[in-house]
Amino acid sequence: MILTFASSKGGVGKSTTCAAIASALALGGEKVLLIDLDQNRTLERWSRKAPIKGLTVSAIEPNKFGAFFRDKESSGEFDHICIDLPGSREVTMFKVLARSDLVVIPAQASEPDLREALVVVSDIRDVGETTGRSIPYRLLLTKVYPLRTRVTDFAYAELARLGLPLFRTALVERSAYREMFLNGQPPTVTEAGKGAGQEVENLLAEIRAIVAETNKSIRKAG
Ligand SMILES: Nc1ncnc2c1ncn2[C@@H]1O[C@H](COP(=O)(O)OP(=O)(O)OP(=O)(O)O)[C@@H](O)[C@H]1O
Ligand SMILES: [Mg+2]
Repeated sequence: MILTFASSKGGVGKSTTCAAIASALALGGEKVLLIDLDQNRTLERWSRKAPIKGLTVSAIEPNKFGAFFRDKESSGEFDHICIDLPGSREVTMFKVLARSDLVVIPAQASEPDLREALVVVSDIRDVGETTGRSIPYRLLLTKVYPLRTRVTDFAYAELARLGLPLFRTALVERSAYREMFLNGQPPTVTEAGKGAGQEVENLLAEIRAIVAETNKSIRKAG
């Protein structure tokens, strides 16, 4: 699978979710390449703290993305490629979107985050129209409070009104997600089978199902 984590809004949980999902795939025994396109190299630094077998993290200059991606994809070395985008809209983002099997758009349950998520959705649709392939995407609510609040109710109502597709799984505000950047350990290790670990496994199951369903319909159409 080629999974992209995108939002032009900063600090919504792109890198956290990307690292958590890439780790879960690698810990399950698959070979994963994580491409870190953020010039802060957050995930490359993270990966050096507690390297995970089967997970390769490469920080790439945006202008080298195309050649790097082609090389790695055609090598057959990896089962999955996860791409962490920076919180900005640049030309590389469009190149990445065009190659994605699924785009995960993290957003907090707030009006500005949802507004920004709509910008990404519109970009994804534009790229889809240009490339002649509809690119699957889902919004992912992150850092949500464990108890439903008026703000989360607003977010769910707004998403339903806009008809935006949403993961059933939401990532709750939990220390395991923050600790990941301190000790390098992903949530599926620190909270295996519970809390954040279970959330990440649930999210991964949804991701696999969406990609499998899309591939099935592509085969049918072909
Ligand atoms: N579910 C969560 N619970 C608690 N903290 C979280 C959660 N998700 C993310 N965080 C924290 O929020 C901060 C921002 O997250 P992250 O770096 O993943 O966002 P980002 O979208 O990649 O930001 P940027 O656009 O700057 O790259 C980090 O400190 C991270 O640890
Ligand atoms: Mg980031």
